[in-house]
Amino acid sequence: MSRRGPRLVLLGKQGAGKGTQATRLAEHYEVAHLSTGDLFRDAANRGHELGIEAKSFMDRGELVPDETVLGLVEEQLAVGDRARHGFVLDGFPRTRRQAEELRQILDGHPLDLAIDLDVPTEIVLHRIAGRRVCSQCGALYHVDHPPKQNWTCDVCGAKVVQRDDDTEESVMRRLELYEIETLPVIQFYRRAATLVHVDGGLESDEVFKSLVETVTSKFDPAKP
Ligand code: AP5
Ligand code: MG
Repeated sequence: MSRRGPRLVLLGKQGAGKGTQATRLAEHYEVAHLSTGDLFRDAANRGHELGIEAKSFMDRGELVPDETVLGLVEEQLAVGDRARHGFVLDGFPRTRRQAEELRQILDGHPLDLAIDLDVPTEIVLHRIAGRRVCSQCGALYHVDHPPKQNWTCDVCGAKVVQRDDDTEESVMRRLELYEIETLPVIQFYRRAATLVHVDGGLESDEVFKSLVETVTSKFDPAKP
């Protein structure tokens, strides 16, 4: 039987760098990167019903209903037996109910670590204000580190734009919901003893280095 990769949840405020670091961690450990936000944006771009429904919540900064998110995650974790092989979950779970249901979905393949990427609010506000994303593949940029050529994506060549939900009003609502709905998720993982904190306020390469050090020191691939 091939050795598995880590099963990780990346938690953190909006703009903490979950997407940035989850992409790198998934490449590093050769596991799937599952971002519920990216999956919904992709479904909306392709005109799928799921995406259109989700977008009406996302643009207002509200959470997509638990049932919808849970159905999507269960389906995605079943693809290629990801629940066993390993994954990085980004933006999920973000309610206590989602965390409880994830434990059921992963029956027999428990999480290795839930990582809280800790970043002060004033830094996340700066990061979100300058964030730009590829309209096709979702690659991340910032006005301080733009793509090489005239706001076209370095990865796929599509247009790089501002996210529809990165308006001041929506960002404030998302941060408010983080306090109400997602802080209890951090408590949940603290009690389950799978929680670690990593300082996400540093430069991106430094954050990645400490994430890899943390995961490598705690992850035991011999566990089922
Ligand atoms: P989602 O797409 O997950 O958005 P979010 O939670 O608001 O988080 P962000 O994507 O804004 O931040 P991030 O931490 O990924 O930061 P990033 O790496 O981009 O969700 C969107 C919406 O979908 C939700 O509001 C909700 O409606 C719905 N949804 C999704 N999941 C759901 C769920 N489970 N339940 C219910 N609803 C759900 O970085 C930000 C910027 O900073 C970038 O420009 C980046 O280049 C830059 N940056 C990153 N790291 C650094 C660094 N170390 N130094 C300097 N700049 C950095
Ligand atoms: Mg993200």
